[in-house]
Amino acid sequence: MKKIVALLGSPRANGNSSAIAGRFMETAKKYGGETKTYSLNKMKFRGCQACMMCKEKLDRCALKDDLEPVLDEIRDADVLVLASPVYFADITAQMKMFIDRTYSYYVPDFMNNPVPGRLHPGKQLVFIQTQAQPEENFFNDIYPKYEFFFQFLGFKDNHLIRAVGVNDEGDAEKQESIMKHAEDLAAKIIND
Ligand SMILES: Cc1cc2nc3c(=O)[nH]c(=O)nc-3n(C[C@H](O)[C@H](O)[C@H](O)COP(=O)(O)O)c2cc1C
Repeated sequence: MKKIVALLGSPRANGNSSAIAGRFMETAKKYGGETKTYSLNKMKFRGCQACMMCKEKLDRCALKDDLEPVLDEIRDADVLVLASPVYFADITAQMKMFIDRTYSYYVPDFMNNPVPGRLHPGKQLVFIQTQAQPEENFFNDIYPKYEFFFQFLGFKDNHLIRAVGVNDEGDAEKQESIMKHAEDLAAKIIND
C-alpha cells in the first residue's frame, strides 16, 4: 500500500491549494492509498535553527515541536504532497519553515557524498501551486527551485499541479481541468 503525506501551506482551510490537495488525497485514498494530511498553519513549529545537531550528533532534527512526527512520517512515505499558494512570488512562510527543516534529511557530508540524503530513494513529490496572477509565466520559477532539492534527496518522477488566476475560496474547484488533473495524477501514482 502506498503512503501519501500532504502538507498544506495555506492558512485557508478551504482555500484553493487545500481544495486541490484534498481532491488528490481523496482520490489516492479511494484507490487504496494510506493518506495523512497536515495543516502547517495549525501546528506550532519553528524554522531551522542551524544548530547543526543533525550534522554533528544526530541523524534527525533536534527540535521537539509539532513538526517532529511529521518529519518522521515523511521518512516512511512514498509520496509527499506540498500545497502552497504564492505569497510574494514564493511559497508561504509556513511551507518555507518546513522546507528549511528538511535540512535534517541531509547527511553531514552531503556536498560531496554520492548519496546526500538520509531518506529512502524513489519517493515522489507532488507540488501544488496556486496564484491570483493569471499569467503562467509569473512564478514558474518556484517549483523547479524547490524540486531541485527534493531530487537531491532522492525524490524522482515529481509532478506539479498549478492553478493560476485563482483568488477567492472556491475558485480552483471551478476549474474542472485542474481538479481532474489532481484526480488523474493521484489515480496514476497509486496504480503505477
Ligand atoms: C499575503 C499574500 C500574498 C500574496 N502574494 C501573491 C503573489 O505574489 N502573486 C500572486 O499571484 N498571488 C498572490 N497572492 C494571492 C494568492 O496566491 C491566491 O489568492 C491563492 O489562490 C491563495 O491560495 P489559497 O486559497 O490556497 O490560500 C497573495 C495572497 C496573500 C494573502
